[in-house]
Amino acid sequence: MRTQVGIVGGGPAGLLLSHLLHLQGIESVVLELRSRKTLETEIRAGVLEQGTTDLLVKSGVGERMWREGAVHHGINLQFSGRRERIDLSGLTGRAITLYGQHEVVKDLIRTRLDAGGRILFEAGATGLHDLDSREPRIRFQKDGEEHELRCDFVVGADGFHGVSRPSIPPQARTEYERKYPFGWFGILVEAPPSTNELIYANHERGFSLVSTRSPEIQRMYFQCDPDDDAEAWSDDRIWEELHARLDTRDGWTVTEGKIIQKGIVAMRSFVVEPMRYGRLFLAGDSAHIVPPTGAKGMNLAVADIQVLCRALAGFYLYNRTDLLERYSEICLRRVWKASRFSWWMTSMLHRFGDDPFQHRLQIAELDYVTSSRAAATSLAENYTGLPMELDSELPAREREQTAPSAF
Ligand code: DHB
Repeated sequence: MRTQVGIVGGGPAGLLLSHLLHLQGIESVVLELRSRKTLETEIRAGVLEQGTTDLLVKSGVGERMWREGAVHHGINLQFSGRRERIDLSGLTGRAITLYGQHEVVKDLIRTRLDAGGRILFEAGATGLHDLDSREPRIRFQKDGEEHELRCDFVVGADGFHGVSRPSIPPQARTEYERKYPFGWFGILVEAPPSTNELIYANHERGFSLVSTRSPEIQRMYFQCDPDDDAEAWSDDRIWEELHARLDTRDGWTVTEGKIIQKGIVAMRSFVVEPMRYGRLFLAGDSAHIVPPTGAKGMNLAVADIQVLCRALAGFYLYNRTDLLERYSEICLRRVWKASRFSWWMTSMLHRFGDDPFQHRLQIAELDYVTSSRAAATSLAENYTGLPMELDSELPAREREQTAPSAF
């Protein structure tokens, strides 16, 4: 089997790339280890930056998101018995949209299949070969048989545990990692929303977050031991913990409902440099992981894909290799800024042991961020998404030449 761009991984990054390439007339094949059903039902994060929603709408996959997603213009920070609102739209002119990642995946799969796109589900890549040649190969298994996909470029969008990153020789990559000493306990609840906008709460018992998926389904998280067993937590115990961390003195209380899903996620920061080796380009979680506190994971993957699509279009439509060569450098600038923001939000909101000095500093930081317009604007600018730096990355002379495509 042969194609122009072989994409390992059918999450939001791989599927979006395949869709955007198709709009440019560039062929791709997506190989995905999991089944379509698993991809479409797995509960992941749900906050889309303004730039992410703009891209989905502009490229024709935003119609259902537009109808079903909820646009939020602010978030709340809760600490020391106070709840303070950050006016995202008032400070930046931008907003966020609450729409589950698996819903984005559903929309992309349907759009690709309707357009005759090739997505091979339950096809597990086993190895990437000849990455430093002009015709790299992906070996994969499907239905118990070995197959090979030959292509011009390989895109590794197969997540943190995928085969792509380890295919870069160890001497050609540097990995940066920080593990956090806690996890997030996440639940999905059948209940009406407790608030109109998200609440990020710092409490002496630990962090918690109230989010939403729809008028009927709510998403909540609380800081926990990363080695804890989700099944060991009864529903009563979960509600007791959430009430203890969230309820306010003025009588506001988190709205209970039937818990329909629960699980624990570990927290880490991770970045690999560079994000390219020969004709392999890493995108999304295969190249970087952020702790979820800044809601940046999927948005960073989408930003990588925008840069990559433009670079590949430059190659195929204009015979340019400069953007491919600068892919890693352009992406890493954004990745490190998002890593910094996610680390900062995590540090400000979680409980790190019993250090009263550190807790006082956190409260001072929250007090500052919610009372200084400059500090609140910095949070809002990062939270709604830093601007894409595609054009500003190019020297002025090149910017004037026809740059490929709107994406
Ligand atoms: C959600 C997840 C996040 O990591 C976050 O910061 C906010 C909301 C969510 O799943 O809704």
